[in-house]
Amino acid sequence: MTTRQKRSYRRSMAVSAYDLTGRTAFVTGAASGIGRATAVLLAEAGATVHCADLDAAGLHETATLIKDAGGTAHTHPLDVTDRGQLHQAVTSCERLDVLAAVAGIMHSSPVLETRDEDLDRVLDVNFKGVLHACQEAARLMLDRGTRGSIVTMASGAVDTGGAGLLCYGASKAAVVQLTKTLATEVGRYGIRVNAVAPGWIRTPMTDRHDEDAQAHTEALMSRMSPLKRVGEPQDIAHAVLYLASDASSFTTGQILRPNGGVAMPW
Ligand SMILES: NC(=O)c1ccc[n+]([C@@H]2O[C@H](COP(=O)([O-])OP(=O)(O)OC[C@H]3O[C@@H](n4cnc5c(N)ncnc54)[C@H](O)[C@@H]3O)[C@@H](O)[C@H]2O)c1
Repeated sequence: MTTRQKRSYRRSMAVSAYDLTGRTAFVTGAASGIGRATAVLLAEAGATVHCADLDAAGLHETATLIKDAGGTAHTHPLDVTDRGQLHQAVTSCERLDVLAAVAGIMHSSPVLETRDEDLDRVLDVNFKGVLHACQEAARLMLDRGTRGSIVTMASGAVDTGGAGLLCYGASKAAVVQLTKTLATEVGRYGIRVNAVAPGWIRTPMTDRHDEDAQAHTEALMSRMSPLKRVGEPQDIAHAVLYLASDASSFTTGQILRPNGGVAMPW
């Protein structure tokens, strides 16, 4: 083999590690922000992508982006807190190689003003919604004997805490615990389970609906990062692609932290 042939062989090995051709992915929260960027990138990597979200119009836009780029997308308007809807959508997939459980909501209130109904709502969406998606996906992977990858969405809030973040942070800490527990239970069947814990990412969730307030918050968040910038949905989508693909085949039970270096836990 010539040097040029060796280089081209190595490049194709590097690319094929991230190739999802022939695989099927299910992405929740796919109508917006990180979920949309993830669905589009997984499709660009070759996966058939099932996009799920409450927001049917946003789902349609995501599917159009995928199809216009030559990919394959299916849409499932659903509420992740409804176990029956999730079951129906996931089991409609002939097989499943990747779950990206991204759907989530933000809630902010001081501990002393937090009501039980706030906590219940955030846990229902951010924790139980992820739990039920993981259960449905893992069952389908086990049934079909698929060596799949499950990626959950935690948050930098699990490392840093923060005033007002009791409900949100608790829900994401629960996602981390779910991720590690499920990873230990299904690893022997070749199913990997990892979480992504993003830092501050520019999405509708972090939109302050006011130019000055947005600029102020982004400046603050940028200063906290050694990279001196906030994140973009694409930054997180690439982390999900890594965990979804064979590039991470020896990685499970881990928390990947694309947070701009804001927190650096051991
Ligand atoms: N943006 C950030 O800075 C940031 C940081 C860390 C973690 N996250 C996490 O990333 C994930 C995506 O957040 P984003 O910033 O893209 O927000 P986003 O608001 O742009 O997207 C969230 C999506 O989840 C969907 N969703 C909400 N509740 C749902 C439900 N019950 N059923 C189905 N779909 C539902 C929404 O319709 C929306 O499309 C969330 O889990 C969030 O907690 C975001």
